[in-house]
Amino acid sequence: MCGIVGIVGTRPVAPLIVDALKRLEYRGYDSAGVATIESGVLDRRRAEGKLVNLQDRLDTSPLSGRIGIGHTRWATHGAPIEINAHPHFSGGVAVVHNGIIENFRDLRAALEADGFVFDSQTDTEVVAHLVEKGLRDGLPPEEAAHYAIQKLSGAFALAVMFKNDDNLIVAARNGPPLAIGHGQGEMYLGSDAVALAPFTNRITYLEDGDWAVIRRDELTIFDEHGEAVKRQQQLSVGSALLVDKGNHRHFMLKEIYEQPEVIGHTLANYVDFNAEKIALRDMGDNDNPLDFAKLDRLNITACGTAYLAGYLAKYWFERHARLPVDIDVASEFRYREVPLSKNGLSLFISQSGETADTLAGLKYCEEHGQKLAAIVNVRESTIARSSHSVFPTLAGPEIGVASTKAFTCQLAVLASLAIGAGVQRGHIDPAAETEMVRALAEAPRYANEVLKLEDEIKDLAHTLANKQHVLYLGRDTNYPLAMEGALKLKELSYIHAEAYAAGELKHGPIALIDEEMPVVVIAPHDRIFEKTVSNMQEVAARGGKIILITDPKGAAEVGMDEAKVIVMPEMPEIITPIVYALPIQMLAYHTAVHMGTDVDQPRNLAKSVTVE
Ligand code: G6P
Repeated sequence: MCGIVGIVGTRPVAPLIVDALKRLEYRGYDSAGVATIESGVLDRRRAEGKLVNLQDRLDTSPLSGRIGIGHTRWATHGAPIEINAHPHFSGGVAVVHNGIIENFRDLRAALEADGFVFDSQTDTEVVAHLVEKGLRDGLPPEEAAHYAIQKLSGAFALAVMFKNDDNLIVAARNGPPLAIGHGQGEMYLGSDAVALAPFTNRITYLEDGDWAVIRRDELTIFDEHGEAVKRQQQLSVGSALLVDKGNHRHFMLKEIYEQPEVIGHTLANYVDFNAEKIALRDMGDNDNPLDFAKLDRLNITACGTAYLAGYLAKYWFERHARLPVDIDVASEFRYREVPLSKNGLSLFISQSGETADTLAGLKYCEEHGQKLAAIVNVRESTIARSSHSVFPTLAGPEIGVASTKAFTCQLAVLASLAIGAGVQRGHIDPAAETEMVRALAEAPRYANEVLKLEDEIKDLAHTLANKQHVLYLGRDTNYPLAMEGALKLKELSYIHAEAYAAGELKHGPIALIDEEMPVVVIAPHDRIFEKTVSNMQEVAARGGKIILITDPKGAAEVGMDEAKVIVMPEMPEIITPIVYALPIQMLAYHTAVHMGTDVDQPRNLAKSVTVE
């Protein structure tokens, strides 16, 4: 992961670089650093931990200079300590890097044999030494950088700066995204366009294999064969504003509260509420609109929370559209050598649209001639730009590292797609379509009602705080939702949490149940409610403490005094996963707040994972 920034500017750049890094902190916050050149002197400030520590260091010890590079780190190679913080130096060369240099061990051994001394445990430092070696061998700076880039394998976005040229940054991309911004007599680079939004909205994206020579008034891009190439300049829609928390204590809570609005906003893109019909709006560059009737298989690939949205949608596509679905975590899919159907569709779900494993899955499907579709929150992302059909979520920027509103908006798109697929494939008749569309239209209202349960959920969350383990159970679409509940609790509170399909409890996990084990059960009153109640009885009989999330009918029927019950409004089945996600999120949020963890930036995590 990591976020990188570079500016070849006309004013002091260190504060500008820090400002841009603030927008990239979602990519990692283990350490941060900035380097500049002033009067032929290369200097840097680095600090462990969040950007605020670097800011403090710069306040007491400022950096001048009109050219600079900066970095915010998610540690891969080497502990998150200052010596491993970027920028890395070698002689007159400074480097920042996002990604992983896979052959760094061999390169490091060769460079050490040549007398280069390493200061860090990072993979990145080999790049700085390789460029310096190129300079020592007499290459001009651009060529020295290119010499180094050619020796690297792995995934990288790089920026290289040279002490002896304060009008040059060389950038390269092989995997992780890299945006180049065009200003008035200034040029910028960043891991995304939003980082550069305060400076410019004129953006050129490097493509895989590209490297670029960036000067104040000139940009030259070369492709992987060394040919100078033109890449289109685009106007970015990224907002220059740093989203703030409003009256909320954390971004996560704000984003939980935004859900009624953003779910409605997203649905409006895929549903014609006046005609009460699905009206899928494909934002892809696509002359050949998606026709679900022509498909015989759908494979969905994603990571983390987006994967769980896909998992849940498998139930919807199979039930309502009779379309068989394979669902995989992208890190497995990409190496599994999956046979793909000739008439299949490959769907990728990603908030950021940049997740490395998901992108690799997409490339595999592309190579195998599949039709590609994406559900992304960032419309300009690589996954969106690489797909034939694009169905954006309109969640707005999500800052909390643990995904909330992006998840429910993904579900809103997926529900619309599944119903639309059911209509196209002749399994949903017009009356049923109208009924389902009316149900979707109610989702924002129910989500809003559920927010009023916060105080009650907060009290229950306090019973989870400081437990060692928590189990989550659900059946049908509530099973992937249970997985999302367990994931949220793990991410935020660091409590070990697992989810099981409720019927699977008896095949092993029941051995874990004792008085110390809270069990969260997600069970609206549906056709299999009774089955889940039986599983709850099995838990209660062994002393397990149950938190049941259900509706008034379920609460009335459950007849278990031992269970603590969150009573949700009664609602149509198709929207329950979207609305039931909210108490799950609030439970994890309040457990974490009670335990005092860093809710918006949990330890060891990052929001956009651009490494394998
Ligand atoms: C990271 C985030 C998760 C997210 C996953 C996939 O692990 O912490 O919240 O679900 O990446 O990210 P994507 O941007 O592809 O949805």
